[in-house]
Amino acid sequence: MKVRKAVIPAAGLGTRFLPATKAQPKEMLPLVDKPSIQYVIEEAVAAGIEDILIVTGRGKQAIEDHFDRSVELEQLLTDKGDEDKLELVRHISDMAQVHYIRQKAPLGLGHAVSVAEQHVGDEPFAVLLGDDVIDEGEKLLSELVTSFERHGASVVAAMEVERSQIKAYGCVDPADEVEPGLLRMADIVEKPAPEEAPSNLAVIGRYVLHPEIFDALRATGPGAGNEIQITDALKHLVHNSERGVLAYPFTGTRYDAGDKNDYLRATVELAARRDDIGPAFVAFLRRFVADLDRQAEARGPARH
Ligand code: UTP
Repeated sequence: MKVRKAVIPAAGLGTRFLPATKAQPKEMLPLVDKPSIQYVIEEAVAAGIEDILIVTGRGKQAIEDHFDRSVELEQLLTDKGDEDKLELVRHISDMAQVHYIRQKAPLGLGHAVSVAEQHVGDEPFAVLLGDDVIDEGEKLLSELVTSFERHGASVVAAMEVERSQIKAYGCVDPADEVEPGLLRMADIVEKPAPEEAPSNLAVIGRYVLHPEIFDALRATGPGAGNEIQITDALKHLVHNSERGVLAYPFTGTRYDAGDKNDYLRATVELAARRDDIGPAFVAFLRRFVADLDRQAEARGPARH
């Protein structure tokens, strides 16, 4: 079974990023000059997936406009002879075949995935969260696809987090290693209390799922936060499917662009790495940090 399609859930309300997300999708917030969801689609395309379904909802029109052609803008850039920007703008609408479906109410990530069934059909598919950005040098999605193709079981990406942070994630309970760097799950738990968490391995926003997930989602009622959780459907597969579920521990760079701190870290790191704006920005950062250090020194030793 080949993985040809990707689903990008982008219908969440983004309440962690209010007020910015009151009237604009959090997936459209730029990291330097590119919306986070464009990084995500470029990642899918780089892994060879060009059929992309974005799950949208109320107030998400800007996402559709972004990936559509902009005839007026292209005409203006053509008239000005600005070939570079023209290429930049055309690339956005040409790079993939993007489809849309509405999730009528934000009933949870599991529910968002279930509305993709009609488009995906009886095929395996990738899920990439629209606000989770993986560094473009990483091969995570290709590795998940290869793992799926080798074992035929759903596979999720996971990352080690501080134990105190695990309560914000789905948490993997690993059983054994099916091959180096790939774990079979014994269980998966949504947002466990740190003292009860079976590991520090947090599920992040990349999955390759067997279509049996749709039956599992149908069998899954509302869970944490009264939302239909993808974690609960995966748990159902761990305990009821002979294929089981695999976890791929990832050690590269990932940003949760829907979280303010991670958003700032992403902006600084991505800007610092750019050839055009990077050198001046890094020079500014050095001066800025040196000033902070001087001010702290002038205040004397920190009191605790
Ligand atoms: P989050 O867990 O970040 O939830 O969703 P959220 O509701 O968007 O944001 P906060 O927590 O209120 O700030 C992860 C991804 O799943 C999508 C979101 O758009 C995001 O890309 N999602 C979430 C849906 O598509 N539908 C939902 O019902 C929930």
